[in-house]
Amino acid sequence: MTVLELTTYITFAIVLQIGGFAVLAFFRHWQVYQGLKGRAAGFGNGLPEQADRELPPHPGPAGHAAPWEGFRDFRVARKVFEDESREVCSFHLVPVDGQPLPGFRPGQFLTFRLDVADPSTGGVKKTVRCYSLSDRPGLDHYRISVKRVPAPKGSADLPPGLLSNHLHDHVIEGDVLPVRAPSGHFFLDPGSGPVVLIAGGIGITPMLSMLNASLENGDSREIWLFYGLRNGAEHVMKTHLEALAEKHPNFHLRVCYSRPLPGDGKGTDYQNEGHVDIALLRLTLSLKPYHFYICGSPAMMESLVPALDEWGVPDQNIHYEAFGPASLARPSRRQPEKTEAGPAAQSITVTFSKSGKSLTWDENAASLLDFAEENGIEVASGCRAGGCGSCQVAIEEGEVDYNQAPDFDPDPGSCLLCISRPRHDLTLSA
Ligand SMILES: Cc1cc2nc3c(=O)[nH]c(=O)nc-3n(C[C@H](O)[C@H](O)[C@H](O)COP(=O)(O)OP(=O)(O)OC[C@H]3O[C@@H](n4cnc5c(N)ncnc54)[C@H](O)[C@@H]3O)c2cc1C
Ligand code: FES
Repeated sequence: MTVLELTTYITFAIVLQIGGFAVLAFFRHWQVYQGLKGRAAGFGNGLPEQADRELPPHPGPAGHAAPWEGFRDFRVARKVFEDESREVCSFHLVPVDGQPLPGFRPGQFLTFRLDVADPSTGGVKKTVRCYSLSDRPGLDHYRISVKRVPAPKGSADLPPGLLSNHLHDHVIEGDVLPVRAPSGHFFLDPGSGPVVLIAGGIGITPMLSMLNASLENGDSREIWLFYGLRNGAEHVMKTHLEALAEKHPNFHLRVCYSRPLPGDGKGTDYQNEGHVDIALLRLTLSLKPYHFYICGSPAMMESLVPALDEWGVPDQNIHYEAFGPASLARPSRRQPEKTEAGPAAQSITVTFSKSGKSLTWDENAASLLDFAEENGIEVASGCRAGGCGSCQVAIEEGEVDYNQAPDFDPDPGSCLLCISRPRHDLTLSA
């Protein structure tokens, strides 16, 4: 082989190699381009629309914005009545500071603290109440839906519910309300397993959030709603619920009226007459590992929760929230500790170490939370029923007794102030 031939072969081999690399590189770039094109097509109109898409269904406390500390001002952007009888009113709340809203888990609630005229004293009372978020996360506002609470029947001398009536009668669009960040441990599991939501009356509010979050974000999990109420006049967001059931074949709506009105149509407005009870659930549901989420009157909760236990539903598949104190007979849940007779009540000293106050315990105080507030000690609170953990405080010294079994398990060495009392001298990190 001549030198010229050898040089030609080497040059040819080099050109061939470079060509091979060029083809390979082009092929790889083409593959990446095709992939990007496919993803862009999935966004519909492309990236700008993607930026407008809603937050994911369960962004949780670590959503797009961090939860705030303490109270934040929200303006009432809209007030909307949600039932024929105008007993339930929704409030659409937008942050006054214009900053983004943190995500939340569907089922959680907001805590409000307002100065409200108290007819029983003629003065003004600082009133703290919780209201469940009644729409899904990811919107530019929060929504709560509040039922007006009348005085108990036959108690003409008692005032009607303080904050619910104040919100209905005195809070108007444009007003500003101080609000604590979403919290609570009653929320829809973000998994894909089948779920049964059971709502009694105004207990529909957390379920609306769960439903809207799950269905409007395209989840295909099987989801049932058993909604118990008295009649059509009280039916909250009827059109919305029916539209959801029509649109989503995985959503099954069963409405029970306990006292239907003459104009209420069985089979159209409601499916069953009577209460939501275990017989109806057993008749309707197939044998699947459902998770049950229940929120309703104390009577509903106190009958249904133990009945589900008896039916064999595992403890961890039963989730519930009471909108106030409810004593639930759940054998698997921790019961209040039995106490031995302690020293005379007046000798108990409660020390709030951070506030630098040592006070004599008032035996008439319903809880350590009430006692702290009455003495001007600022303590966080939410549900005031042992369910949310907001009032959890570390015990530095001493012990407490619980008025009822907590639904929220406090950390070791801590207690929930809203349902506890000092057993003897106590020092709290508050
Ligand atoms: C986690 C959670 C979420 C909630 N979500 C919602 C929700 O989404 N929507 C909703 O509407 N509610 C909800 N609630 C309930 C809400 O927080 C309030 O408890 C409810 O609005 C009643 O508050 P109020 O101030 O109007 O009534 P209150 O002033 O607390 O009065 C309650 C009742 O007690 C009566 N009463 C007053 N004084 C006395 C007395 N001396 N003795 C006996 N009875 C008396 C009143 O007449 C009234 O019937 C929720 C509660 C919790 C804990
Ligand atoms: S305020 Fe909710 S647990 Fe005490």
